[in-house]
Amino acid sequence: MTKVSIPRLLEKQQAGEPIVMVTAYDFPTARAAERAGVDMVLVGDSGAQVHLGYATTAEVTTDELLVLAGAVRRGTETAFLVCDVAFGTTEESDAQAVATAVRFVKEAGADAVKLEGGNAEKLSRIRAIVAAGIPVVGHVGLTPQTATALGGLRAQGRTESSAARVVEEALGVQRAGAFCVVVEAVPAEVTAVLREVLDIPIIGIGAGPADGQVLVVNDLLGVTEGRTAKFVKTYGSIGDDTVAAISAYADEVRSGAFPGAEHQYAATPEAVDAARESAERLRR
Ligand code: KIV
Repeated sequence: MTKVSIPRLLEKQQAGEPIVMVTAYDFPTARAAERAGVDMVLVGDSGAQVHLGYATTAEVTTDELLVLAGAVRRGTETAFLVCDVAFGTTEESDAQAVATAVRFVKEAGADAVKLEGGNAEKLSRIRAIVAAGIPVVGHVGLTPQTATALGGLRAQGRTESSAARVVEEALGVQRAGAFCVVVEAVPAEVTAVLREVLDIPIIGIGAGPADGQVLVVNDLLGVTEGRTAKFVKTYGSIGDDTVAAISAYADEVRSGAFPGAEHQYAATPEAVDAARESAERLRR
């Protein structure tokens, strides 16, 4: 299998072949995504919450994301690897944004970085990172890092001003040089407009039909506890399966059923005698 490249992703878009993206935060999940044949793996800063247990995505650091990204890189062979940059690590200046993006490429082997937002400052950051030779994925609509400013984790593009802003930001992101854009939590009708005006692939999440789709892996596997967003479809029950497996293990340890004879090593009688002699000698 050949590695997925940007030209391959654009080819898929042109051919109307949906692009599949999924998040991953560790080696085993990256292996599973690779074996499932996804096109793109995203080390999302959603990992701050679903993998590292923070209350918001804004709390994660570059060093923490780099550990997750390195594990995911080691688990992927063909999938195109995109890494989110952490909140506060591109906001100060273009130079800061380039330095952050370079770390993801050099230290984690990222194929591209993803930046949330499309205001003038963010567009400048995207231009700078692209000029440094690092591919950028944009992210508009609901942008969790700055959700407070958007009124919380809620759908965007549902009012006249918000819909106009989503289109303006998506076009801005494309003009700034992003090769692809994630559109999160916007009405399908607004995404349809974006598909008419944008040339770059749109990866939707809660945005209706698009050139591709992305889901947070914990949501799709059924690992996430409690309510998930309206747009989440759950394809597994790994959370419940995990609890059931650990509970069964705990029960067997407590009852003495585990470890059974089949999980133990055999020793020769001579080795057992030697262990006894040694124990006797050392006990004196
Ligand atoms: O961090 C993330 O997982 C994301 C996806 C929701 C697109 O940005």
